[in-house]
Amino acid sequence: MSRSSGMLPRFEGRAFLAPMAGVSDPALRLMARRRGAALVVTEFTSIHSIVARHRALGRSGRTIREFLEYSDEERPLSVQLFGSDMEALARAARIVEPYFDIIDYNMGCPAPHITKQMAGAALLQNERLTRRIFRTLAESVELPVTLKMRAGVSQEDRHLFLDIAQTAQEENIRMITLHPRTASQGYSGTSDWSLIRLLKRSVRVPVVGNGDIFTPEDAGRMIQETGCDYVMVGRGAMGNPFLFGQINDYLQTGSYRRYGVRDRVEAFFEYLDASSMYNIKFPSVKSQAMRFTRGVEGAARLREMITAARDRAELARAVRAFA
Ligand SMILES: Cc1cc2nc3c(=O)[nH]c(=O)nc-3n(C[C@H](O)[C@H](O)[C@H](O)COP(=O)(O)O)c2cc1C
Repeated sequence: MSRSSGMLPRFEGRAFLAPMAGVSDPALRLMARRRGAALVVTEFTSIHSIVARHRALGRSGRTIREFLEYSDEERPLSVQLFGSDMEALARAARIVEPYFDIIDYNMGCPAPHITKQMAGAALLQNERLTRRIFRTLAESVELPVTLKMRAGVSQEDRHLFLDIAQTAQEENIRMITLHPRTASQGYSGTSDWSLIRLLKRSVRVPVVGNGDIFTPEDAGRMIQETGCDYVMVGRGAMGNPFLFGQINDYLQTGSYRRYGVRDRVEAFFEYLDASSMYNIKFPSVKSQAMRFTRGVEGAARLREMITAARDRAELARAVRAFA
């Protein structure tokens, strides 16, 4: 019996922040949300690590929020899971259910350490297992379950997503995001937006187009060319959470406010402040500093200072010197 009766929340806009491991931490998500992202998604998380953390927490009274950190201001908030062991999947889904608004399932990661465990993009070639995964999720939780996938594994099978999408729809998946590159492509070449159009024509559920959106105009063009319901932005939002508000304005009015390097550097201080509330590793914070300050004058020297910074105060001083 299917428990997943969950309907998607109402989204306030059409642009979503993509899940990005090591990048879309709770502080960046919050900033994107504050600036108009209609949905934010956690970095992908192993079902096995959720189960193990939950077990370790035992009866301490502490919750999985210590591991999957977020703030309520981020809502609607989606948690992305990967892994294909049915028992762990069901348990992990139930563990996260009380805390999130959507469960997103990852079938896009091309990294060999993930695909080797029959997870991420490797699943595109395993329609039977995929059906069991969707069914297990739908039977385990009432939250809406969504899917994010690549087009295929290699150029020859780049239409695998079409069969998977049918299966997903039959098994109560409520929304599908497509990054139309193949796993073997990595990030090379360009994403083939015509595949998003194909997906939109073949399913009834909302389609989220993803891949190579760096400007508001890109977002508008993707919607126009593919008919997708929403767009999802990854790399374009790195160090640039302003892009969501710009996309919203562009879609509504045809114009948008411009932001410069100085605005992004200022935004870094908001990031630094927000990130101090979470257990984000300092090297990750430094990487974010690099992204927010891209393009400043004297960037090479600033990069050296960021690299050398030993704590948050030193990092702030380094960036302040270039603000
Ligand atoms: C650093 C990095 C980490 C990523 N981590 C994830 C992830 O955890 N889960 C996921 O589904 N996709 C992940 N992706 C893929 C993005 O969500 C997105 O599909 C891809 O970057 C294409 O969109 P873009 O062209 O807007 O960047 C990651 C991408 C990058 C660059």
